[in-house]
Amino acid sequence: MFVLGIETSCDETAVAVYHANRGLIAHTLFSQVATHAEYGGVVPELASRDHIRKLVPLLKTVLVDASLQFGDIQGIAYTAGPGLMGSLLVGAATARSLAWTWQIPAIAVHHMEGHLLAPMLEEVPPPFPFVALLISGGHTMLIEVQGIGNYRLLGESLDDAAGEAFDKTAKMLGLDYPGGPRLAELANQGRPRFKFPRPMTDRPGLDFSFSGLKTFALNALHETEQSPQDKADIAFAFQQAVAETLTIKCRRALQLSGLKTLVVAGGVSANREIRWQLSEMADSAKAKVYFPRPDFCTDNGAMIAYAGAQRLMAGQTQNLEIFARPRWPMEQLPQL
Ligand code: KG4
Ligand code: ZN
Repeated sequence: MFVLGIETSCDETAVAVYHANRGLIAHTLFSQVATHAEYGGVVPELASRDHIRKLVPLLKTVLVDASLQFGDIQGIAYTAGPGLMGSLLVGAATARSLAWTWQIPAIAVHHMEGHLLAPMLEEVPPPFPFVALLISGGHTMLIEVQGIGNYRLLGESLDDAAGEAFDKTAKMLGLDYPGGPRLAELANQGRPRFKFPRPMTDRPGLDFSFSGLKTFALNALHETEQSPQDKADIAFAFQQAVAETLTIKCRRALQLSGLKTLVVAGGVSANREIRWQLSEMADSAKAKVYFPRPDFCTDNGAMIAYAGAQRLMAGQTQNLEIFARPRWPMEQLPQL
């Protein structure tokens, strides 16, 4: 079964084709970074307009790359939420209309389920059950995963998501949008100098709070002359604090659940320091950690095609309604 995946939840227009037995066939992506950079963040109206411009040409490109015709596609998976309403509607309306025209089933995919299943696209996929740490621009969650759609939320951020904290701190340090990867780059030049807190690690539980780190970074910045080295040192301290906080909570989640497999996904999982610290922790806990390849940490069409293909193959489909939900709790998803 060839499944087309469409992702338009935020500022990336992404399309992929996944085949049930043959795996990922083709994927392509257009990033709107240049459009939003001059505003310092995503402008929702510009994002939806750009998805309208880019989606159909990308669909054509991916079919050419996959050496497929329209008629070969047997199902369409699209991100239905969570995300920006206007952006989601472009993907949902296009996917639903194409499915109706081609008389094939369509399935609404939860964006975070897409992220969670992205490591399944790798050569050695993680075995169920596992603990998943999802760290993106909008979410930070620890989830116990027994199977697809069988999710128990163990903890989440009570304020800023990890990616959001990276982006806001980066902005404060004068870095351009998108801040996360830029802050990580700057941190490479940083030295251990400032000691930032590890929020909520001194009490039991698996929830997170990252908004205080941003304030801590701002106060540290005001105590310095704000030279490039000062900023690099702050970036270093901030990244260390996020990485160590995530690592402490993941170790705790493995202990509490008794599981030995950790899956880490979402845009922030591209961060090398975070990957390194989590890998070290997993080694010492005799656990195994799985990450998607860096391209599939951030938003992409492949993860949506994969997640949708699993649900379509299990017989799940969407009716003719154009379904988009800016907020959508993951625990409401049906089990496979
Ligand atoms: O998953 P994603 O592409 O989109 C959402 O679903 O939100 O995540 C984007 C987030 C942004 O906040 C971005 O700054 C962050 O992931 N990010 C990073 C890195 N690469 C992307 N944060 C830290 N280090 C990175 N290398
Ligand atoms: Zn995402």
